[in-house]
Formats: sequence, C-alpha cells, structure tokens
Amino acid sequence: MLASSKVLLQSTLRNFRGICSTSIRMSDNLFVHRDTPEDNPSIPFEFTEENKKRVSAILNIYPEGHKRGAMIPLLDLAQRQHGWLPISAMHKVADILGLPNMRVYEVATFYTMFMRKPTGTYHIQVCTTTPCWLRGSDEVMNVCKKKLGISPGETTKDGKFTISEVECLGACVNAPMVAVNDDYYEDLTAKDTEEILDDLKQGKVPRPGPRNGRFASEPAGGLTSLTEDPKGPGFGLQAGL
Ligand code: FES
Repeated sequence: MLASSKVLLQSTLRNFRGICSTSIRMSDNLFVHRDTPEDNPSIPFEFTEENKKRVSAILNIYPEGHKRGAMIPLLDLAQRQHGWLPISAMHKVADILGLPNMRVYEVATFYTMFMRKPTGTYHIQVCTTTPCWLRGSDEVMNVCKKKLGISPGETTKDGKFTISEVECLGACVNAPMVAVNDDYYEDLTAKDTEEILDDLKQGKVPRPGPRNGRFASEPAGGLTSLTEDPKGPGFGLQAGL
C-alpha cells in the first residue's frame, strides 16, 4: 500500500506543471561588473570644473551626516557627463561621499536608469508595459528594431542609438510612448516612430509630447466634464457673508 502511494506521488510530481505561463523577461542591463577595455577601474574619471561646482551645490542640500543622500544625484551627474556610468565614476562618487565602493554598486545596479555599458547618443526607451502594449507598443518596437538594425540592449555601430525595452514610464494616458533621453514622445503610431527616428538620424530633435494633436493628456474626444466657465471666488456663499 505504502509502496503504491509512493509510486503515485512520484508520477504526480513528474507530471506537475506550473500554472504560470508568462515568459521570463530579463532586463537589458548588466547586473554584475566585468572589466572591459572601456570600463575598468584603471580608467580615471573626474568631474569637469563646471560639474565640480554642481557637485558642491548638490552636497550643500544635504545636512552633515546625511551626505549619502546625494548619491543618486551625483551618479546621475556622472552619467550625464560621460554618457553612461563607468565603474571609475562609481568609485569617484564613493570617494566624494566617503563610502565603501560597495554602497555605490548597490544603488547603481538596482536602478535601471543607470547605464553601465556604453550607450548611444540617443537612448530609445520603448515602454512595453500593459497599457502601451494594448495600444501598439509591439509595432513601435518593431519599427525601432527594423530602422536601427539592432535589438533591445544593443547600440548601433556608429554609437548613435541604443534601444532599451522598459517598464511603465508613467505616461500610460498617452500610450504608446517612447522616451528619448529626457524627452517623452507619446500617442505614437508606427509612422510617428519612423519620423522621430528619421529626425534624430539627421541630428534634429523632434518636438516632444503627444503626436495625435492632443496638448497633454486631455480626452482625445474633447472635454466631458468641467466644460463651463469657472464661477469664480465667492460662488454659492450667502449674500450676507
Ligand atoms: S504603460 Fe507605458 S507609460 Fe505606463
């Protein structure tokens, strides 16, 4: 009896299938450092004179004993100066803050906004989270891949473009969208995406924002509420007041 139960249990375990059918998505970012010719601790990093003033201004925001709060702004400044975040820049930030390098690695590897490998002049971040996906982010991504000849996580040979597949960037009301460096391009179609990439290839910066005629994130079919003129101060108060 005991033996047959054991056989039954073994066969059940062998035939067990997980209920999760979602494919596993891996980030485009590298979460361990490997020394490469362009990124290793022997390549010096220094802030420019102008950025050294910014470093002091950032540090002044934080009271004594809490200077480590400046870590993310300093890493961001280093990335803006260099175009991406090499390990020497992380060491420089650790030096400035008087922290072990490990404390900086922990932050730089956690936030995907820190690019730890050479990144193109234009960082094309395509949001593929559910609202953007429902509104056509697959098409947007396909145009980027086809037009630039690279896949997410790769950079074009001329160093101009990098594509990343990213999670929600907070512009779902204007889905689908892509971010190019600090600018958002929203309400995109495949044609809009082509036009944006064409402009960037020619060194022009297309106007950021929605591409379907909306000013911001108002209803595409016009206002449905708050359609009257505002009543002004005092509206609804008793006459005697
Ligand atoms: S889902 Fe794409 S911006 Fe939120």
